[in-house]
Amino acid sequence: MKEQDCAELATFLEKVDHSFRPTLSSRIEFRSFAVKVLSKGVVLKVVDEDKVVAVTIFYANDQVEKTAYLSVVAVLDECRGRGIGKRLVAEVIQMSRSRGMRRITVQMNPENEAAVALYTSLGFRMCGKPNGDHVRADSIFMDLSLSRSLC
Ligand SMILES: CC(C)(COP(=O)(O)OP(=O)(O)OC[C@H]1O[C@@H](n2cnc3c(N)ncnc32)[C@H](O)[C@@H]1OP(=O)(O)O)[C@@H](O)C(=O)NCCC(=O)NCCS
Repeated sequence: MKEQDCAELATFLEKVDHSFRPTLSSRIEFRSFAVKVLSKGVVLKVVDEDKVVAVTIFYANDQVEKTAYLSVVAVLDECRGRGIGKRLVAEVIQMSRSRGMRRITVQMNPENEAAVALYTSLGFRMCGKPNGDHVRADSIFMDLSLSRSLC
């Protein structure tokens, strides 16, 4: 893992922190979070003219439950509404499927209309709360089945 990648991710998360309810900084420390996700998860970024404008972070390594977890998707304020978030999550779906995952889950604040619209547009549906350390009391969950029909 490169020092520069950690710094770049931490800087991006600081820029979008105000968009999350509760804020990311109220529950994570950016630097150590960046170190963790860059070593254990998958981080995809969209760069425009040398500037990171969007990031998604997900895990697709649960070989028991075969469930991927989408941890973060965020687009800079000024770049929203152009399909960037949707393209990133579509890539998460494709990569999770190619890594053998059968399902993707994501949690969000119930008032986050943009997030609900984004995931719904890609086929995600509301689902119950799973168990796990990552579950926040104030969240709703959505999931997408990645199983393919054979007929
Ligand atoms: C949620 C977020 C990533 C969406 O990114 P985006 O690039 O603006 O979204 P897109 O332009 O790809 O839009 C995807 C779909 O969501 C819909 N959508 C996007 N923002 C919306 C909004 N504010 N209200 C209603 N629908 C919205 C779009 O109409 C589009 O639907 P369609 O494909 O059926 O036309 C962005 O608003 C963001 O970074 N928010 C702050 C961080 C956040 O809340 N992340 C999600 C936490 S789980």
